[in-house]
Amino acid sequence: MRGPDRPAHAVSEPHALSAMSALTATDIRKSFPIGGHPAEILRGLSLDLPEGAFHAVMGPSGSGKTTLLNILAGLLRPDAGTVTVGGTDLTALGDRERTLLRRRTVGIVFQDCNLIPTLTVAENIALPALLDGKTLPAERLERLLELVGLTGRRDQPADRLSGGEAQRTAIARAFAPDPKVILADEPTGNLDSPAAHRFCDVLRTMNRELKTAILLISHDPQTACAAERVHFLRDGVFVGTHEGPHDPARLAADYLRRIA
Ligand SMILES: Nc1ncnc2c1ncn2[C@@H]1O[C@H](COP(=O)(O)OP(=O)(O)OP(=O)(O)O)[C@@H](O)[C@H]1O
Ligand SMILES: [Mg+2]
Repeated sequence: MRGPDRPAHAVSEPHALSAMSALTATDIRKSFPIGGHPAEILRGLSLDLPEGAFHAVMGPSGSGKTTLLNILAGLLRPDAGTVTVGGTDLTALGDRERTLLRRRTVGIVFQDCNLIPTLTVAENIALPALLDGKTLPAERLERLLELVGLTGRRDQPADRLSGGEAQRTAIARAFAPDPKVILADEPTGNLDSPAAHRFCDVLRTMNRELKTAILLISHDPQTACAAERVHFLRDGVFVGTHEGPHDPARLAADYLRRIA
């Protein structure tokens, strides 16, 4: 329901205090100095990602997708607005608390998967737990390897993987600490079409099986249509939402209509 105070660009009800939200962003603003003047890149974005949901954000190059993802991940501070992960306000935390919360509750996947090349698939997946002074339980490692289809590659060094295998290792690593939310920025950007397709299938399976919420950023309709809901970003605000079914042609048509 649209109330009188609700900004027109709020795509779904932000309810930061709800226990059912994996992640909420409320009225996020961010400017960068461009050409000596502040340019407002994000102009009051609100987003609600319920627990277990799989949403995507599509927008043209330069529309602020990566800026938004960095803010949601706690890697970048917004000028205004709040981000909560699992009910905790990231924007109210100091650097150390924010880093700890991010490590335990936010899994991040970038276009460049950032694996340690000399470590094996299994070692890369277990690394975040080690850095947090813990050990990844063997059953969870096996389950993750199975879900991403890399059981037979577990002892392969990361620098001897295909692009698709490397990105599936990165997604298993992101899921390893059982985070509240997975944030993925153009994760299929370096993959060919079959590998991207397989990666999307894996994401959907992991979302369904592990019930972890996912926010996927991509300007590729083939990739974004893996999500059940897609938010369109233009000029720093959301300008619409596309609901499944998973049909890339329909999503592409809807996107072009909203973004043009
Ligand atoms: N640290 C920064 N300092 C100055 N300007 C920045 C900074 N980071 C991003 N920008 C600018 O903000 C705008 C949005 O950048 P952003 O990387 O968020 O876009 P994007 O939607 O992810 O684009 P792409 O699809 O090409 O990855 C761009 O104009 C970019 O030049
Ligand atoms: Mg980007």
